[in-house]
Amino acid sequence: MALHAAEGNNVVIPLRVPPATGVGEVEGARYRQKDERGVYISMVTDDTSDLDKMIEETQASIIEDARETFSEEVVNRWLNPKNIGKIEDPDGFGRVTGPCGDTMEISLKVKDDRITKALFMTDGCGTTIATGSMAADLTTGKDIKEALKISQEVILDALGGLPEDSRHCALLASNTLKEAIKDYLAYKRDPWKRVYRK
Ligand code: FES
Repeated sequence: MALHAAEGNNVVIPLRVPPATGVGEVEGARYRQKDERGVYISMVTDDTSDLDKMIEETQASIIEDARETFSEEVVNRWLNPKNIGKIEDPDGFGRVTGPCGDTMEISLKVKDDRITKALFMTDGCGTTIATGSMAADLTTGKDIKEALKISQEVILDALGGLPEDSRHCALLASNTLKEAIKDYLAYKRDPWKRVYRK
């Protein structure tokens, strides 16, 4: 794995998987593994020769930890998220920031009150990604009334559950979906008003 960027004495290396355990930063860390969402692992070492191997081993151990804590469905969506992105000129758009500070966006394409496409974006952690991805999957193909029934519990069930302290991620996903549907309904009759929306 190639080095990505340098920040002073910290070498920053891309990492796709946020850590499931060991939250915090190693004191005096010289190296950091960091993913595109800003989650990183820090460590103290002077041995750069075997850095790639160390990173691979760390990633493998993170994934192993994650498999003990989360369902297969969650881990798969975390590692290979589906439905990430933003629809250009969406028919419905929602953006919500949860109490934890993470933000999610969901954009919808709708035809004859049926959702034909749903994409999400988030700056949240792995479980937030899994819930956004699942919310978008559950939404696609549903009519608006059915989509409004996609609650926190529905998303949690589809993911095979989440630990207590991650359940709020599913609430963020369902709330964001509701905002996107509300946006669609608000402009349904007068789509030209979108031009003036804030
Ligand atoms: S940790 Fe904030 S929404 Fe998941």
